[in-house]
Amino acid sequence: MPKDIIIDCDPGHDDAVALLLAVGNPAVNLIGVTTVGGNQSLDKVTYNARAVLEAAGARDVPVHAGCARPLVRTGQVAAAIHGESGLDGVDLPRPTRPLGEQHAVTWLIDAIMAREPKSVTLVPTGPLTNIALAVRLAPEIVDRVREVVLMGGAVHTGNSSPVAEFNIKTDPEAAHIVFNEAWPITMVGLDLTHQALCTAEVEARIAAQGTALSRRVCDMMDFFRQAYRSNRVFADPPVHDPCAVAYVIDPGIMTTRRCPVDIELAGALTTGMTVADLRAPEPAADACATQVALRLDVDAFWDMVVDAIAQAGARS
Ligand code: BDR
Ligand code: CA
Repeated sequence: MPKDIIIDCDPGHDDAVALLLAVGNPAVNLIGVTTVGGNQSLDKVTYNARAVLEAAGARDVPVHAGCARPLVRTGQVAAAIHGESGLDGVDLPRPTRPLGEQHAVTWLIDAIMAREPKSVTLVPTGPLTNIALAVRLAPEIVDRVREVVLMGGAVHTGNSSPVAEFNIKTDPEAAHIVFNEAWPITMVGLDLTHQALCTAEVEARIAAQGTALSRRVCDMMDFFRQAYRSNRVFADPPVHDPCAVAYVIDPGIMTTRRCPVDIELAGALTTGMTVADLRAPEPAADACATQVALRLDVDAFWDMVVDAIAQAGARS
């Protein structure tokens, strides 16, 4: 049985690949996509999500737009990494499926409550604003969700600041709410995603598929590589967000460590840091709801992504 997942995202080059992995892998069933202001404005990322699904031939997947800005703070966008459109460098088809009318937050609640308990996995790959609001509006979703597997945070590094990752730093109060609920959370942070580099070899495998979709993915990766070369100390871009989807598909693809995680809200230099307590021996599953992902099976990850792009490309 494929696992039902909802991706809450802000596409974004790597969010786009996360969507393609979910669409092209039979182990997951993408029941819907919700969007949140993050890498770019809400309007832009929502359009991008719809256009990516159109390019992947996934017109049956509903998209609902959520929160335009963080709960408390002023939003920040990542134009240096994702461009003015949020998905610069690629020409995508116009979406044909209309945007869902319902707000993402109420849609999420309804979608979770309408399904069997513990059947829906949430995969947030942007700031956690929508998820935090959903949990405040309908706390009963915490018990109904199977697990939350999110891209965000880091144990030993940062990108938006020396110690904070972009998704968490953009809306730390939302992250604080989400991490302090009792649902199982796997934090797929920068420690792991910095291993998921789209090298020239990986891109050549995608290009060799020769589909319209594979060409578009290569265009995206070319832009993403250049952005990471210009703005960060990376020769190849870390493709963060599909790592969270990959964990849902096959948890064996990464090693994780269970530990308490909380969010720094008041630091002069550390706001948005995901503070992971690794001091004690690893706690038992019933004593700690959070775990952090640390090591990725890089080859297995790219095999999975390349194959999903081939599957989706053949359909579209
Ligand atoms: C995260 O920030 C965004 O720019 C990416 O899409 C990813 O979700 C990495 O820090
Ligand atoms: Ca993202």
